[in-house]
Amino acid sequence: MIERKDAGRQSAIAAAMTQNGLPFHRLGGRAPIAQLVARFYELMDNEKAYAELRAIHAPDLGPTRESLTDFLIAWTGGPRQWFKQRPGVCVMSAHAALSGMTHNVSRQWIDAMARAMDEVRPGDPEIRDAMMETLTRMANAMASRSAAAQA
Ligand code: HEM
Repeated sequence: MIERKDAGRQSAIAAAMTQNGLPFHRLGGRAPIAQLVARFYELMDNEKAYAELRAIHAPDLGPTRESLTDFLIAWTGGPRQWFKQRPGVCVMSAHAALSGMTHNVSRQWIDAMARAMDEVRPGDPEIRDAMMETLTRMANAMASRSAAAQA
């Protein structure tokens, strides 16, 4: 009896999951996420508007591009390689320790990501908006935490 009830509840959850889907799947999986990140760093590397943001990165953007791709894959519900390779690492704390994390630079990060999102258009508009909203909040919080740490 209890088992049947649980089974019913389980399939309701499964149905809701299928309906809404994991962000990772709604974004189209690994390839569109990799494309989004590639375009983001390409814009950062080439556009004068992001010069200040570019300057706080290493000359070779390759390793960071790989890392952000794997992070976004794991963070949206895909394979968790990024977290497995970095046990206990918190992306927010890691950024608070960086120098040059000003609000101006965080605005450049958000702007470059919004442009990349607009050009690559992974998944559906609803998931793109939700992701952009969360990334914006994270980037703003990173700059605020960094300013507080250096005050
Ligand atoms: C305030 C806006 C942001 C700025 C200014 C910023 C800046 C940076 C910098 C300077 C690095 C190091 C790159 C290097 O050494 O060349 C980095 C790495 C990274 N950032 Fe950000 N970032 C921002 C927002 C974010 C957000 C919102 C996320 C997550 C969604 C993120 C995820 C990462 C990841 C995963 C790495 C690579 C870490 C590693 O493997 O060492 N960043 N970021």
